[in-house]
Amino acid sequence: MWHHPATQGNVHQLRQRGAIIIEPEAGRLASGATGDGRLATTAAIVGSVRLAVGRNGPLAGHRLVISAGGTHEPIDPVRFIGNRSSGRMGFALAQAAIDRGASVTLVTGPTQVAPPYGAAVIRVETAAEMLAAVRSEVADASGLIMAAAVSDFRPAEPMEHKYKKEGPDSRLRLELVQNPDILASIDQPGLVKVGFAAETDDHVANARQKLERKSLSMIVANDAVTTIGSEESTAVILIRDRDPEVLPPMTKAALAGLIIERLAMLLTGERAGLTDS
Ligand code: CTP
Repeated sequence: MWHHPATQGNVHQLRQRGAIIIEPEAGRLASGATGDGRLATTAAIVGSVRLAVGRNGPLAGHRLVISAGGTHEPIDPVRFIGNRSSGRMGFALAQAAIDRGASVTLVTGPTQVAPPYGAAVIRVETAAEMLAAVRSEVADASGLIMAAAVSDFRPAEPMEHKYKKEGPDSRLRLELVQNPDILASIDQPGLVKVGFAAETDDHVANARQKLERKSLSMIVANDAVTTIGSEESTAVILIRDRDPEVLPPMTKAALAGLIIERLAMLLTGERAGLTDS
């Protein structure tokens, strides 16, 4: 029925009048046949509505590149060095940006969480792959948010074959070399860069240093131990020439909304909207 010329003609006319069509999905149909015609998933329906409602928001016309998740650095073909990042913060930021009209490319390390509907997703494993993807994607973007927990080190020489232990007392020594700093190395005129600072001590002072060192417009400091892999975050937002904004504990979705609103103000030049120091 979906492919019938009459249905397609009507759908075409509706599209021309500006209607947004949520297409059916393929699978087994009530009639017993298999094909295109199943009701779209709830995620697709809700995601499409969010896209439609947000499309004239403050970030309409802006393209953002957002990194998420942790990187995996191979030790051998089956083992890697990784971290506990779930990808939730980056995905929440992508959803918050889509809700405000941005077009979003997510560059994500391996994660179990579903990315938001409407984001272009590039999946990577290592920091080197993330650097290459971010570098090529930011070329026509107005903002970069690095929410990924990039591994600072990688095994110097990943083994070609699976490492075998030699006996009950055998030890394995790994030499690690430093990965490139993605955020610091991206230097593109006009690009607004936002970073995160995962800290265990002196959160604000350490975040302020990273803001300067990596030439950022904004940095979000949070506690590495309680935030990474969790649903919630307690954060401080630092913007150049402004007092720190200390936030109460909140869900990553709520924090993402606040960060994207600050970013929208920076991108649209409405600095007056930011709390004055
Ligand atoms: N970052 C990056 N590339 C790296 C390491 C970090 O782009 N190789 C980004 C992170 O995504 C984050 C910011 O830099 O937005 C700060 O990351 P963080 O881990 O807090 O700090 P580091 O710069 O790695 O410094 P340190 O671990 O020594 O505190």
